[in-house]
Formats: sequence, structure tokens, C-alpha cells
Amino acid sequence: MKQFFRTLFGKISLIFLLLIFILGATEVFISVKSSVNYVCEASQKLNYSLARDLAHRFEPMLKDSLNYNAINSTIKELMVMNPKVDIYLVDKHGHLIAYFEKPEKIKRKMINIEPIRDFVKESSYGSLPIFGDDPLDKTRRKVFSAAPITIGKNEQGYLYVILASARYELAAEGIRGSYILKTSAIALSTILVFGAVVGMIFFFFVTKRLRQVTHTVRAFEQGDYSQRLPVTSDDEVSELAAAFNRMADTIQKNIRDMERNAILRRELIANISHDLRSPLSSIQGYIETVLMKDDRLSKDERKKFLETILKNVTNLSQLVQELFDLSKFDAKESKPNREPFSIADLTQDVVLKFQPIAEGLNIHLVTKLPVNLPFVYADIGMIERVLSNLIDNALRYTESGGKVTVRLERINADCVRISISDTGKGIPEKDLPYVFDRFYRVEKSRTRNSVEGSGLGLAIAKKIVEAHNSIIKVESKLNSGTVFYFDLKTYQKEKDKNPRLFVHRL
Ligand SMILES: Nc1ncnc2c1ncn2[C@@H]1O[C@H](COP(=O)(O)OP(=O)(O)OP(=O)(O)O)[C@@H](O)[C@H]1O
Ligand SMILES: [Mg+2]
Repeated sequence: MKQFFRTLFGKISLIFLLLIFILGATEVFISVKSSVNYVCEASQKLNYSLARDLAHRFEPMLKDSLNYNAINSTIKELMVMNPKVDIYLVDKHGHLIAYFEKPEKIKRKMINIEPIRDFVKESSYGSLPIFGDDPLDKTRRKVFSAAPITIGKNEQGYLYVILASARYELAAEGIRGSYILKTSAIALSTILVFGAVVGMIFFFFVTKRLRQVTHTVRAFEQGDYSQRLPVTSDDEVSELAAAFNRMADTIQKNIRDMERNAILRRELIANISHDLRSPLSSIQGYIETVLMKDDRLSKDERKKFLETILKNVTNLSQLVQELFDLSKFDAKESKPNREPFSIADLTQDVVLKFQPIAEGLNIHLVTKLPVNLPFVYADIGMIERVLSNLIDNALRYTESGGKVTVRLERINADCVRISISDTGKGIPEKDLPYVFDRFYRVEKSRTRNSVEGSGLGLAIAKKIVEAHNSIIKVESKLNSGTVFYFDLKTYQKEKDKNPRLFVHRL
């Protein structure tokens, strides 16, 4: 039970029941009070002229001197005939002159005269009920009837008739009390039972959705990240549900990213160790051979072995350098050192560098450069590296007799597009989204027969282009060719630094 009232449903129900009870009790109190007032007003109006009617009975006894015996016996006689009233004779200040009660029962010898004066005024009928002091009780006030009366020669007094005398009231109150209380108890318990049943059903359904929220949040907390809440309307609970769903989406995405990152990190370490181990064991093997066969090796053989060792060492140091560069980009330590330069001149230089290799592979390497290209504003060393990586790939993955085209285009006032296309073997569609991932190679085998490469070239190119606030994109068709392209911002005199003439570095 204690547990029940700790729940929101319990608390709302309890407050609701208390509210019904307080409202019901107030209603009963007001209706009892107004029914008592009604009875008083009705009784005072019905007996409005009672005192005046009785007054003439007393007049003969008050004329010259007060005839107490006669007065008392008249009062007694009247009260026996009508037990509902108490009759008093009062002077103009409110002092009691005559009454029919044992003196010890009289609690006040003087009563407030103001209500009596108000009552005997002509216009008093409209302002009933008027309550006056009850001589039998120090605090209680009651409805009455009163009439002016002349005492002695010229003394003003009043006949004061309390309606519903003490005896009568005791009996009447008992009857009324039990009747009203019984009706109110029935009404109140009906309201309570009805209110409790209807209210609790209603609150049960309202809080049901909150319980569903708790249930879902708990399941989510325990690892079921697919849990979502239904958003059925636009009330506060649905708003809460929608907010929870958004939060759950974000958390689920972050968890997936974290899991993917963990897998990538494991793969990265495996790839690095593989790529370091292969050239290292090759170096080790050749050195051991040279040492073992020392004097049995011909001069040419020794030279060939040492060249292989040197090639592996060069590859190793290049791999380490590339890894180092990538980690610098990741740590945002490598920032492009921008300057204005001629992209056309740079492209020609790089292509010139690759021309002998292309000729050796029997690949046609051409440039398409429009005249009057504006300067671009970028890091010349970094862009040279991107161009080299892309041309290197194009040559590497294109068969003999193919063609590689390096094209520059001005696509709008602000941008120059650089694209490197080839007629090579292309990249399968499923691999396209991953070619920029580090160590990703379409040809997974890392044997000596396959095209060599560590799978870092495009990852570095992507990082460099992104550092220039641009995006590198790829389009490819299997067995017909691939194109990589990215845009560079042109040099704007007002915004960027002064131009510097491109210096040929070859
Ligand atoms: N022009 C291209 N045509 C076909 N496949 C390509 C082309 N360029 C890249 N690829 C594919 O994308 C993969 C990733 O290229 P990336 O340059 O990152 O690595 P790599 O060339 O294998 O090694 P390296 O780090 O030495 O450049 C390549 O292994 C290759 O499978
Ligand atoms: Mg490459």
C-alpha cells in the first residue's frame, strides 16, 4: 500500500480523493448552514408579529406599577401553551425585567438592545433574519420577535420573544442533525465511491503511458538499443517520447560508430604490423643470405641483393612517413600553408615527372589545360602530393596501352576543378565508398605478385583536400575507367595574400 502511494498514479489518486472529500464536505457544510439559516428566517418571518400580538396581554399589568406576579404567571401560561418560545420583558437598555426561568439558568441579565431596535423598525421585515442575544446562553444568538411596550407612565420597554426556545431546540436539533447528517453521509460516500472509481480508471490510463516510458527506458538502459516509444499525439507525454527517441537514435549511432572505430583500429594495427613485417623479413632474409654466402656471391648478385634491401628500406621509411603524416592530419597538426600559385604550371611539372614511368608502362599520359587559368590559393606542396598520388594510382591500375588524362577546368568564378581520369580496370561499386579509408585496397591480397601498395595514398589525398575545405570524389566503371576530382578555390586579391610567381622546382 505504501508502495502504491509512492507511484505517480497513487499520488494523483490520493490527491484527487482528498479533493473530492474536501469539496464534498464543504458542500455539505454550506448546505447545512444555509438550511439552518433558512429555517431561522422562515421562523422569524412567520412569527414576525407574535410579540406585538402578545404585548396587549401585558399592557394592563404594566400601567401604574409592575405587577410581577401577574406578569410571571402570564409568561408561564403563554410558554406552556407554546413551548417553542421564551418570553422576556426588557427595559430600553436591555436589562431583563421579567421572565419565566429559574434565576440560576439566566446567564446574562442584560442583552444587546440594538438587534431589538432594528427589529421593531418599520422596514425590518426585508432584512430578516436578525439574531439577538439568548439570556440562557452567554454566547449563542437566536432569532426572535419583539414589540415596543410602555412600562409605567412613560418608560419605554420591549417584549422580547426568543423563537425556538432551548427545550424545543434541543429536540429539533437532534432530529435535524441526524437527518441532515445521514443524507450528507450518503451523498458524500456516493460522491467518494463514484469519484474514486471513475478517477482511478482515468488516472490509470493517463499514467499507463508514463509506465510505458519507464519500461522502455529501462529496457534501453539494459542494452536493448532498438527500443523506441510510440508518438501518438502531440501532448507532453508524446513530446517526451519523441525526445527520448531522438536521444536513443543519437546514442545508438554513437555506439555503432564506436564499435566501427574499434574494428577499424584493430584492422589498422593488424595492417600496420603486416606492412612493417613483410619488408622487414625480406630485408632480414637478404642480409642473412649475404652474410652466409659472403665469398660465394658474385659481384652482380651482391649488388642485386643490396638493391633489393635498399628498395625495401625505402618502402619502409615511406610507409612510416605516410603513417606519421596521417596521424598529424588526424591530430589537426598539419595545416595547409596557403599561397597563390599557378595550378597549370604545377600540373605540368608533376605530369612531366611521371612521363618516363608512363612511357615505360606504355600508357598515354596527357594533360588538358585551358589557357588563362587563374591562380589558386592552396598549399603547393600538399597539392603536388595529391596530384602525384592520383596520377600514380591511375598509372598503377591501368593496363598497358591505356590512357591517363589530367584535366583542369574553371567551373565558376571561384573554383578550378582538377580531375585525373584513366581507362584502367575501374573500381567495383561495392568498394567505391571505402577507397579513401586507410589501408583499404580493392585487391586484398598483399602478395608480391599483386600490384604493390599500402592503401594509404587516397587516405592522405582525402585529408589534404579536406584541409583545403574541399571534397575529393570518385566515379568509376568496372573495366572501363576511373575518375578522381576535386575543386580548389581561386586566388581572390582582396581577400587573400599577395601572389607570388610560381617557381619551377624541377
Ligand atoms: N585509378 C584507379 N583505378 C582503379 N583502382 C584504383 C584507382 N585508384 C585507387 N584504386 C584502388 O583504391 C585502392 C586504394 O588506393 P590508395 O592509393 O589509397 O592505395 P594504394 O595505391 O593501394 O597504395 P599506396 O598507399 O601506395 O598509394 C587501391 O588499392 C586500388 O585498389
Ligand atoms: Mg596509391
